[in-house]
Amino acid sequence: MTCKVGLLGLGTVGTGVAKILQDPVDRHPLLQEIEIARIGVRSLLKPRDVEFPDGYITEDLQSIVADPEIDIVVEVMGGIEPAKRLILTAIANGKHIVTANKAVIARYGDEIFTAAKEHGVYVMLEAAVCGGIPVIQALKQSLGANRITGITGIINGTTNYILSRMHAEGAEFENTLEDAQRLGYAEADPTADVDGFDAADKIAILASLAFGDRIKLDDIYREGIRTITSADIAWAKDLGFVIKLLGIARRSNDKTEKGIEIRVHPTLVPQTHPLASINGVTNAIRVEGDPIGEVVFSGPGAGSGATASAVVADIVNVVAALKASSKGASNEINQLMGCSHDRYA
Ligand code: NAP
Ligand code: HSE
Repeated sequence: MTCKVGLLGLGTVGTGVAKILQDPVDRHPLLQEIEIARIGVRSLLKPRDVEFPDGYITEDLQSIVADPEIDIVVEVMGGIEPAKRLILTAIANGKHIVTANKAVIARYGDEIFTAAKEHGVYVMLEAAVCGGIPVIQALKQSLGANRITGITGIINGTTNYILSRMHAEGAEFENTLEDAQRLGYAEADPTADVDGFDAADKIAILASLAFGDRIKLDDIYREGIRTITSADIAWAKDLGFVIKLLGIARRSNDKTEKGIEIRVHPTLVPQTHPLASINGVTNAIRVEGDPIGEVVFSGPGAGSGATASAVVADIVNVVAALKASSKGASNEINQLMGCSHDRYA
């Protein structure tokens, strides 16, 4: 069986995905059974880093989510609309979804997982949080025996890249932001990175998985790094600290009605703390739980190849699950995101 993928987006992440799928040798054996059938973009006139035969690439994304030949829709276009509408249409048409879109999942996860349950399809989102680090898989499966008590992390590559360069070189914020954009780390609108919206989306998704409760973005205290100057960095250094943008979620008795304290803000981290030495685009997430204690994940949090690694792993996992069961999706992630899934038991 060959599994046909419809790719929505051929930018930083989509190009990385296409490159892996065009060169499957010596990777997971199931990649030999996966092929890109069509690709949707905003403009056919843009030069591309990957080659496809005429007719593969289209500006008509609706035709991809309606295409009866396509089994999995991979949404790597970003933004809220039309991404959300295309995801929901694809689900209604019985297609499995792989998405890197934390903005859509953090806001409309409930609606999307409810629709997925109704239509018996998988929704996979490993790439939406911390690029290449398999933290979603870890929270929903490998750490499933634990009562999670806290998550603390450097979960935005762009701001960590900027702050690291400000620390190392005394560089100013604006110059380093341009470099992060050129390297493909930043969101299409970098406000999402520098003002902490991207980190808030990610900590909301992680906390929803960890605590089994849907987290509303309005419940998250959020502050970005825009106002941090080289003088602030120098002061922090003199006092034995580095400044990091952290996402923090932990069980608490008094902060919210759900008993979960959740925030994103620049933080003075002691130079001796393990997170202090996480530099550049690298992300790191410390998960505390009972009985495991503490476990730390780190790796590339953004960029074409790292993010594509997570997207393609999700595609492989869907194909493996479909091969293993003729009944349809068992959809553990939907359950963990707070949707019941009796239909898939
Ligand atoms: P990108 O480089 O801006 O690429 C977006 C792609 O989607 C482009 O090919 C663009 O078409 C297409 N697109 C966007 N809006 C469209 C529309 N309205 N109609 C048709 N096509 C449209 O973005 P990216 O960096 O790859 O990010 C994609 C997603 O991955 C986002 O949700 C982002 O949050 C997530 N993500 C990114 C990273 C990263 O490191 N970049 C890491 C993790 C997650 P054109 O090429 O014709 O403009
Ligand atoms: N813009 C995001 C970041 C991409 O810099 O972390 C990965 O989600």
